Amino acid sequence: MTPAADVTGKRILITGGASGIGAASALLLASRGAKVVIGDLAEELGQQVAQQGQEAGHLVMFKKVDVTSGDEVRELFAFAMQALGGLDVVINNAGVDHMPAPMHELRDEDFDRNIAVNLKGVWHCMRAAITCMAPNGGGHVINVASIAGLRSAPVLSAYSASKHGVIGLTKTAAIEYAKANIRFNAVCPSFIDTPMVQNTLAKLDERGQQSIVKASPLRRLGRVEEVSSAIAWLASGESSFMNGHAFTLDGGMMA
Ligand code: NAI
Repeated sequence: MTPAADVTGKRILITGGASGIGAASALLLASRGAKVVIGDLAEELGQQVAQQGQEAGHLVMFKKVDVTSGDEVRELFAFAMQALGGLDVVINNAGVDHMPAPMHELRDEDFDRNIAVNLKGVWHCMRAAITCMAPNGGGHVINVASIAGLRSAPVLSAYSASKHGVIGLTKTAAIEYAKANIRFNAVCPSFIDTPMVQNTLAKLDERGQQSIVKASPLRRLGRVEEVSSAIAWLASGESSFMNGHAFTLDGGMMA
């Protein structure tokens, strides 16, 4: 059997870890020996994920955060630094989508929210991660972007703009902070079966649902564990020469 990517003892902070890809990643990393702090707006769900990890004998903690607030993000990082004794890996995964709409019908609040959470929220966390990691020998920041950050996403223009921005931040930071030994990479999933996507599917008719489910050449949604296992590999030492990269997990959609 091939051994799993080794994250034993890694001190990891993950945002948006109360649900979907973030919850699966937090629990997988903890099950492989990482020490994990989850930051999320959803307090009850986040506590439940932490408890699930603890009941399995792993170190998983939860702290409430709204990533749109620079102050709350600073508090989250201060908590994680104290609780874990440092940070080796930060996974910026918290995100939202919006009601699908052609660009001229998109509501201001949807545009603003997507930029505030998906783009400025990631920048808040990158800034805090750099501040923690630079004086301590470096680290690895993994941003969860999307294939919508690499190509068009009709009726999801604000989401697409926010995710293109995340990839811009990732690549720029990779060059700026290489000297400080901090690496930055992004993962770009296509449609993954999470509450976010189920929520979108619920708003569509049968034809719209099928167009999402069958968008990938594999003709299915991705599974959260298919993203979390890639994140675990990135979080391990095995990704050590990867920097400034945005790689797809899309069943071949971008091929
Ligand atoms: P999800 O909705 O299951 O989880 C998102 C988490 O982010 C939730 O726990 C939510 O409470 C948290 N969150 C939202 N706003 C927040 C805020 N202001 N502060 C702190 N936490 C906040 O969604 P899913 O699908 O697991 O998405 C995770 C990431 O993956 C997102 O960045 C999303 O854009 C990205 N992604 C998801 C895809 C999919 O098909 N599910 C495809 C490509 C990217």
